[in-house]
Amino acid sequence: MAHAPREPQAPHDPIRVALIGCGVVGSSVARLLVDHAEDLAARVGARLELVGIAVRRPERPRPEVPVDAALFTGDAADLVTRADIVVEVVGGLEPARSLILSAMEHGASVVTANKALLAEDGPTLYAAADGLGVDLYYEAAVAGAIPILRPIRESLAGDEVTKVMGVVNGTTNFVLDAMDTTGAGFAETVERAQALGYAEADPTADVEGFDAAAKAAILASLAFHTRVSSADVHREGITEVTAADIAAATQMGSVVKLLAICERVRGADGDAVSVRVHPAMIPRTHPLASVREAYNAVFVEANAAGQLMFYGRGAGGDPTASAVLGDIVAVARHRVAGGRGPNESAYAELPIVDMGSALTRYHISLAVADRPGVLAQVATAFAEHGVSIETVRQQVVSTEGQAHLVVVTHEAPDAALSATVDALAALDTVDEVVSVMRVEGS
Ligand code: HSE
Repeated sequence: MAHAPREPQAPHDPIRVALIGCGVVGSSVARLLVDHAEDLAARVGARLELVGIAVRRPERPRPEVPVDAALFTGDAADLVTRADIVVEVVGGLEPARSLILSAMEHGASVVTANKALLAEDGPTLYAAADGLGVDLYYEAAVAGAIPILRPIRESLAGDEVTKVMGVVNGTTNFVLDAMDTTGAGFAETVERAQALGYAEADPTADVEGFDAAAKAAILASLAFHTRVSSADVHREGITEVTAADIAAATQMGSVVKLLAICERVRGADGDAVSVRVHPAMIPRTHPLASVREAYNAVFVEANAAGQLMFYGRGAGGDPTASAVLGDIVAVARHRVAGGRGPNESAYAELPIVDMGSALTRYHISLAVADRPGVLAQVATAFAEHGVSIETVRQQVVSTEGQAHLVVVTHEAPDAALSATVDALAALDTVDEVVSVMRVEGS
C-alpha cells in the first residue's frame, strides 16, 4: 500500500536559550550561536533565540560578545524561568545547583559544563531531570571538545565497557610532557606552565588531581551504570612526581601520565568498580603516550567493540563551546520532536573497591648496598607481602659499593605493594627508594 506524502511541518516556535555565565566558554557559546544561527536553525528545525545572558556585572561592556547589550542581566534566578534551554557555564556548586534545579522546575532542559557539581551531586540533578521530564546534557564537563559521554551513554549502550582510561587534565599533561622533554623538576615546570598560560595562578585543582577525579566520577558512572561521586575516587596528583621518576620511566621505554582509570573488576562475589586518579608509567607505544602538551584523550575498552580512542582539546573557549553547542542542538531537537533523550541509569549499582584492594603494578627503583645477600633481602620483602616480581634489573652505578635495582611487579593489591615499599625503605641495605610509580597499559 502506498504511503500518503508527509504534510510539510508548520514552522516550530523559536527555542529560547538562556546563558548563565559569560566567561571564556560562555562568550564562545554566545558568539557561535549568533554566527551559526541559520545552520543551527536548519539542523534543529527551529530558531535558537538567545533570550538572556546572566552575568555578575551586566553593565560591563563586552565587545567580544556580538549580542544586544540589553540581553545581559544580573538576575539569573529570573532568567532561568523564561527559557526552554538553560546553559550553565559558571561552574561551582552554588548558585549553579539551585539555578539548574529551578530551570528544570520551570520546564527548561539544561546543558552544563559543571563537572564539579555533577561529580558531587549528579544523582540529585539526574533525578530532577527524570522527574520533570527534561533533558540534562553535559558533554563539555569531561575532556572539553572530545565527544566521549554520548559515545559511552549511547553508542556503547549495547556493549559492556570494561575500562575507561584517560588523560583528562590538560594542565598536568602539559607539565608532565614538559618534564619529560626537558628533564626539569615539577616546581620549575609548573612555573613555566603558568607563565605560558597553561596552568592557573592557583593550580591546586589540576595538579592535585581534583579536576581529573571529578571527570573520572562522571565517566565511571556512565560506563558502569553505577553511582560514582568524587568521594569514591582515589586521588593522587602530580606534585610528588620527580625528575627521577620521569628518568626511570624513560629507561623503561615509558612515559609518566596523570591517568583517570575507571575499571570493571571481576571478583568471586561479582563485579565491582575501581575508580582512581594517579600518575602512572605507560609504555611509549600505548596510544595514550602520544598525547602531548595540553591535549586530552580517553581510551575505552569494551567487550565487543575492543579498544577505542578519543582524542582532542580538553579545554579552551571554542573547543568547550563546541561540546556545549552539540548538546544545545541535541536537546533543542528533542523539544521540536517531543520527548527527551536517553537518561542516566544506575541500575547496576556495582560496589566500589577501595584503593588498597585495587590490583595495580609497581615500578620500584632502589639504590642498594652492592654486597652479597642484598638481592635476597629485597626479594624477601616482596615475598613477605605476597607480591610477585615480574622483572628485576641491576644497573651499574658510579657510586662505590652501591647498585641500582629496578623491580617491576606483577599485579597485586595496592595496599600490599605500598606496604612492600615501606618495608624496603626500612631495610638498612636500601640506601634510597629512588622512584616508585604505578605501571599501566601493558
Ligand atoms: N583545568 C582543566 C585542564 C580544564 O587543565 O584540563 C577544564 O577541565
